[in-house]
Order: sequence, then structure tokens, then C-alpha cells
Amino acid sequence: MSNLERVWWKESVVYQIYPRSFNDSNNDGIGDINGITEKLEYLQNLGIDVIWLSPIYQSPNDDNGYDISDYQAIMNEFGTMDDFEKMLKKAHECNIKIVMDLVVNHTSDEHYWFTESKKSKDNPYRDYYIWRDGKNGKEPNNWGSCFSGPAWEYDKETEMYYLHLFSKKQPDLNWDNPKVRNEVFDMMKWWLDKGVDGFRMDVISLISKKPDLPDGKPGINGYASFNEPANGPHVHDYLREMRTEVLNKYDTLTVGECSGVTLEEAKKYAATDNSELNMVFQFEHTDLDSDENGNKWTDKKIDLVELKAVLSKWQKGLEGIAWNSLYWCNHDQPRIVSRLGDDKEYREISAKMLATCLHFMQGTPYVYQGEELGMTNIAFDDISDYRDLDSINAYYELTNKGVFSKEEMLRYINIKSRDNARTPMQWDDSVNAGFSKGEPWIKVNPNYKEINAKEQVSRESSVFNYYKKLIKLRKNNPIMVYGIYDLLLADSKEIYAYTRTLDNKKLLVVCNFTNKFVKFDMPKEFVNGNVLVCNYENSDIHANELRPYESIVIEI
Ligand code: GLC
Ligand code: CA
Repeated sequence: MSNLERVWWKESVVYQIYPRSFNDSNNDGIGDINGITEKLEYLQNLGIDVIWLSPIYQSPNDDNGYDISDYQAIMNEFGTMDDFEKMLKKAHECNIKIVMDLVVNHTSDEHYWFTESKKSKDNPYRDYYIWRDGKNGKEPNNWGSCFSGPAWEYDKETEMYYLHLFSKKQPDLNWDNPKVRNEVFDMMKWWLDKGVDGFRMDVISLISKKPDLPDGKPGINGYASFNEPANGPHVHDYLREMRTEVLNKYDTLTVGECSGVTLEEAKKYAATDNSELNMVFQFEHTDLDSDENGNKWTDKKIDLVELKAVLSKWQKGLEGIAWNSLYWCNHDQPRIVSRLGDDKEYREISAKMLATCLHFMQGTPYVYQGEELGMTNIAFDDISDYRDLDSINAYYELTNKGVFSKEEMLRYINIKSRDNARTPMQWDDSVNAGFSKGEPWIKVNPNYKEINAKEQVSRESSVFNYYKKLIKLRKNNPIMVYGIYDLLLADSKEIYAYTRTLDNKKLLVVCNFTNKFVKFDMPKEFVNGNVLVCNYENSDIHANELRPYESIVIEI
């Protein structure tokens, strides 16, 4: 299969739903499945093809559903299996596919497999997880959890440690055990037989650990990164096995969340021969505002020249070899308009510019709930308003160790917290933004009176209607999906410009990433082109300058 071979998952736009924060149908303050069903028409209007549903499985919610205690049951707070089936049916009637979150690097510590595994060294489930003896009375190695502290928890009962790259309520599964793999594969088939359309695979790059679990380089809290096991020795074998055992029997969209993935590794994970996954999420562009040691708690800004270099490396590097996914936002990332645009004066214009920049690249675009409204970061002024264990744990760990003062740490959390993406979806200007009549599990962003779906849907010039336009353009212009990407003006600190080429057609995409007027001379070959889309009302090909955050796409 070549990059140009037409496949539905290349031509689709995926919309991510974080159910807890999307829409609350029974007013208990927590978004739920029936709440999603109520909003399918809204999504159909936006024009998306696929929903990626963050986890809806039974979970004690230590990490909002990314800690699963039963893969074949629905979280009580979210509804019932019957609700799920109704949602799936209605989604399919609306021509929307549903992709599930597959969280199988780890389970919850309340999963039956783990409660058994913990019981004794000879329990049949012992080898479902990664147990090790301590070293000199300490942890088996220096790995840290993604959510602060060590990646090991001591268990008094059997006097051994278990590995948890995430919270201690998320023990890592042992993928080297064929029984574990078969359990996962059977569970996947069970969901696919129910009619779901694929999987987004949570930190799938971390499932294969080197048998000797070697130490890594310590970071600011003294522990090595949770990413240490990325792209381990058997990860490709296990995904190939998953492909032949499960995926080949169905028509699916698969995307691997691959923390620590390199371009070379992505060529294997997302190869066009379809031997593993369809595409991966890489993190090089979203890590550009972390410091040299990979610490995200800083106020460093993303540098445009570096951003272009990274995204272009992925565009060109995978060309004809593997397929890209395109994203600015998800439930783990701050809001893009606050991060790379201007969430005040130029909020709408910059949100549209960022959308243009991303949606015209080669790959499958992902839109995260509220991104299509230009929703912004939240800056709580008290740590007690945050709900995300990542932010909360880092706050206490790094202030207790004296790495940062409380004020400094809160400022970094304001900028980077995952809760920026998790405040309730802003539906209208009624109480709690129309998300719930009860008290929401996390505070609503007070700007909902101005920024909300009801207002946006009804106004032609809104961010919502601009996203709708981009999604529609993609349907009618195969060049947006399949065209070859080439970067222009690599050194410009202000402009991101690139072309797409397919057969005898060519597109020029120009985006001003600043709040200033910037000089821009239209390349000769485009001066007589048509404007395909522009984020300002009146576009002028001959202006020789770009307005603040202007984006314009020209076709010839
Ligand atoms: C992924 C998820 C994140 C979660 C973690 C552990 O990175 O996107 O939300 O906390 O995995 O499952
Ligand atoms: Ca609810």
C-alpha cells in the first residue's frame, strides 16, 4: 500500500471526547454516555467522521478512567452497557465511527488480575504483572512514575516490588507473558464484535520492557523518565501479533500513543504495509516547550523555527513509508490557542490560523473537544481547584523538594496542566456552560458566556464554522489528504509556509504566527491562484503582507 492509496482512515477527521467533561445528561456533575448521544447531531454538523472516546470502562478513577478495573464493563458514573450500545448505534446512523481507548500497558490495581497477582508468588496471575525483588533494600531500579515518585511500589505481603510507570494504582502488565497478550486480544475482539471501529492505544510504545530493566538518566526529581522503556525489544513483535490475531479480521482505525517514539521507530509502528498500526501520536512538537531534560514544568515557549523543523521532519520522513496523525490538542495537553496563539485579542483569528496550519498537512487530523470553539486554558489560582493527579503530585513533590517555590510551580501548572483541557465543554451561556445543572467535578472556565457552542454554531464567522469548513474542504480536495508536503521559508521566525502537491495541482499554505503585520511576498507561481480559504473575511493575494495571525491557502 502506498501513501496515495485511498483509505477511509486517511480521509477521516477524528474528534476526541473526554467523556467526564463532555456533557452531563443526569446532572450529577459528571459527563456521561447519554450526554454524548445527545450531542451526536452537533458532531455530525461539524462534519467529523470518527470519535475517539477516552476510556469509559469500569475504573476507580485514580487517573480518570486510564486505570481500568474491568475492560468489559462501563464505569457506573458514565452509564450502562445498554447506553453504550445505543450511542454506538446512533453514531453509526449518523455515519460516525467510534474508536475506543485501549489502555493495556497497565490495569487498575483493583482489576481482578492484579488482586489475584498480589496474593502470592505462586498465584496463577502472578506473572501478569512485573514483580521484582528490591536491590539493597531499595527499588529494583531508578525509574520514576510519570506522576511523580518512584515507578515501583513495595508490597509487604510477598516482599517484592511491582512496576507502575504511572500511578501506583496503575500496575504495568507483563506483555512477555503470552497469557496476558491473549487476554488483551480476546477483549479487543469482544469490543470489535460489538461493532466498535478501532482503537487508540494508550502508551503502547511502553509495553515491552528490557528484561534487565536498566537504570536511566535521573531527571529533576531524581528519577529516570517513565519513558525509559519506550520502543522496547519486542514491541513490534507484539503489535504484529495483535495485527494477525485481531486487527486483520476487522476494518479498523488504529493509532498508537507512542511516547518516546522516534521517526525511525514510527516507520515500523505505522508502516503503510499495515503490519502494525495505521498511525502513531508522536510528541516531538508538543515537547518543544519542555526544558532540555524533558521537564515540562517551565514557562518555555515553543519556538516556531523548531516547530517547523520537527513537523516537517515527520511530514517528509514518513512520506510514502508510514502515515502521520496530526494534532495540537488532547486531554493531556494545554489548549493550543493559549499555547501557540493569542487567547485574548486575537483568539478567534489565531485559533483558525492554527487549525489551518494543521489541517492542511499530510496525515489524519484530530480535533479535541472544545478546540473547535477556540476554548482556552484555565488558570486556577489555588492548587485545590486542580483535579489531575499529574499536576497535584508534581506540585507537592517539586515544592517539597525545593525544586520550585509554590508560586512558581502554580504558574507552571497554570500553563501546562492537563486540566487545561479537562474543564467542562462550553455548550451555551446558561449555568455551568450548559454542561450540567449539578456541580461539575471540575470548575467551568468562566469565559463560557463568551465562548460557547451555541453562539459559535449560530455565527457564520466563528471558529466552529471555520473548522466545519476545513473538514468539508478535506472531503472535496484529495490533495489535502494525499498531496506531498514541502516546507518554505524554513528560517522565518514569523511565518509557517508550505506547499502540497498532487498531480497537476498545488496548494500554498501561509500562516502568520505573530500578532503583528508581517511582510510576505507571494511566490510568483501562486500570484494568479484562487484563495481556497482565509481566516480573515477579505483576503488579498497581492497585499505583500500578512495581518496578525492571518492564514491563507491558495490553489493553482
Ligand atoms: C496516556 C494518557 C494519559 C494517561 C496515561 C496513563 O498518556 O493519554 O491521560 O494518564 O497514558 O494511562
Ligand atoms: Ca452524569
